[in-house]
Amino acid sequence: MRRLATRFVAGDKLEDAIRVIKTLNQKGICASLDLLGENTTTPDEARKTAHEIINILETINHTGVRANVSVKLTQIGLALAPTLCVENLSLILEKARQLGNFVRVDMEDSNVTQATIDIVCQMREKGYQNVGIVIQSYLYRSDKDISRLVDGGISVRLCKGAYKEPSSVAYPKKHDVDVAYDRLTAALLDGALGHNAPSVSSDGRIPPLPALATHDVRRINYAKNYAGKINLPKTSLEFQMLYGIRRDLQDQLAAEGFPVRVYVPYGTQWYPYNMRRLAERPANVWFIVSNFFRN
Ligand code: FDA
Repeated sequence: MRRLATRFVAGDKLEDAIRVIKTLNQKGICASLDLLGENTTTPDEARKTAHEIINILETINHTGVRANVSVKLTQIGLALAPTLCVENLSLILEKARQLGNFVRVDMEDSNVTQATIDIVCQMREKGYQNVGIVIQSYLYRSDKDISRLVDGGISVRLCKGAYKEPSSVAYPKKHDVDVAYDRLTAALLDGALGHNAPSVSSDGRIPPLPALATHDVRRINYAKNYAGKINLPKTSLEFQMLYGIRRDLQDQLAAEGFPVRVYVPYGTQWYPYNMRRLAERPANVWFIVSNFFRN
């Protein structure tokens, strides 16, 4: 698992992640920095995490890297008390606003989908324009959620979804998840046109409205073709991928002139994150086994 961690995680420390981001930036690729951790169990830990995320924003600022941050709401107290989570997220968004940066709220399992959307919308109503959200195409509810978020001009990262969900809430078949992904991509790209299609900011921190987070070439090609069909400029959408996965594709899209952002996790709490990467691709189990026997 340690070896797998080094494939998908930048390192234990913030400086490890900054080093990785500098290399990505040199290739014209931006980043979203993620302090690993979820389901924090005490209010003190949730507050401490919020302060660490504020420190990340300050570090991005003084190192000048082209990056924003991603946050999980259960990391800053959602499972303990929504008010604590809102308090912590407000502190993070206030700092991000002062520094001209952006915060993406990751989406976790379906028990917290509604609360996550409600809190992000509440933050927007409070005047924080620098917050975006993630929607998962495997959930049946996502068409309605995307329509609400597009109406509100809220930046959405679309992914397939990484948690084990029951068939009462999520499509059990991969084909249906993929079909939904393309349908939701079209809704997001149309929505961007309807909001004057803002481009990624020149410092690489504020993303365009739609962010398509996938390594699936078919989904990426669908998005490229659809954007061409509706004349959405390349810089008005962003492709996102995970650190350590399909670097060739990241480079290729950047060379084609699309904004590309890589999600760069760091920290010591890598176990649940890596378990999700393992579940996505059985071949990763072979990666561990072969490394185990090589040592
Ligand atoms: P799919 O699983 O069909 O994979 C397509 C191809 O990508 C594979 O054939 C393989 O080549 C490559 N690939 C995919 N996963 C791999 C892996 N683990 N190891 C090696 N190769 C792999 N989920 C969530 O629930 N909430 C969230 O907030 C986020 N956030 C997020 C941000 C970003 C930037 C990305 C890219 C993804 C997420 N995800 C996520 C994870 C997402 O939901 C999904 O689980 C993974 O991206 C894998 O799905 P793909 O879209 O890549 O397709």
